[in-house]
Amino acid sequence: MTDTLIVALDLPEVPAARALAGRLHGAVSFYKIGLQLLPIGGMDLAVELKEGGAKTFLDFKFHDIPATVEKATRTVTRARADFLTVHAEPPVMRAAVQGRDGDPHLKILGVTVLTSYDDAMLAEMGYACGARDLVLRRAEQAIKCGADGVIASAQEAAEIRKRFGNALLIVTPGIRPVWSAKDDQSRVVTPADAIRAGADHIVVGRPVNAAADPAAAARAINEEIAAAR
Ligand code: C5P
Repeated sequence: MTDTLIVALDLPEVPAARALAGRLHGAVSFYKIGLQLLPIGGMDLAVELKEGGAKTFLDFKFHDIPATVEKATRTVTRARADFLTVHAEPPVMRAAVQGRDGDPHLKILGVTVLTSYDDAMLAEMGYACGARDLVLRRAEQAIKCGADGVIASAQEAAEIRKRFGNALLIVTPGIRPVWSAKDDQSRVVTPADAIRAGADHIVVGRPVNAAADPAAAARAINEEIAAAR
């Protein structure tokens, strides 16, 4: 088993998320905990999963004044997590890099542009450029700020890889194996296509966490990843 597949534990309660991780043992070694679980014990669950030998991704998408981001990141280092997300604005990324001082093992990933935003929304917010240009600009800034990687769609992944080589880890959500439902994700790609586009890790939620047999779903995705390499 590799750690390429990251399963999003997007469930409403910690006991259900813990039970899902238990069912996935042996098929998955990397878990993402996000804002849904953060206010109700997500950090403690991350510590528990880490102590059990798994890798952990805290998808908290920090976005605040630098002093607060730095202190919040320092707090997060207590979880001994592997990945933490922050919005990919230079002051935010620099503060997070500063705050993880005590734990160089924690990789800071920049969320370049949320995939729910399109060019019209960016214009409404006052940006003079479109999503594609902003993603590439922020990827470059992530490197300059000392961040370790970015969250990017498969489409963006290919372009970031081409332009910046291996300077950044690329973590790609919006993944749907051909056998799964699309849910509310609009621009989806298969695990194989994401790997071929240059993703280092893929984040999968509902195709695994809502499957009748989550471990079987995860094993099928692992096989698809292995075949694409
Ligand atoms: O269930 P699904 O596979 O759509 O879940 C994808 C996970 O990745 C969710 O936790 C979602 O919040 C996250 N995500 C995403 N698109 C982004 C960033 C994160 O779908 N651009």
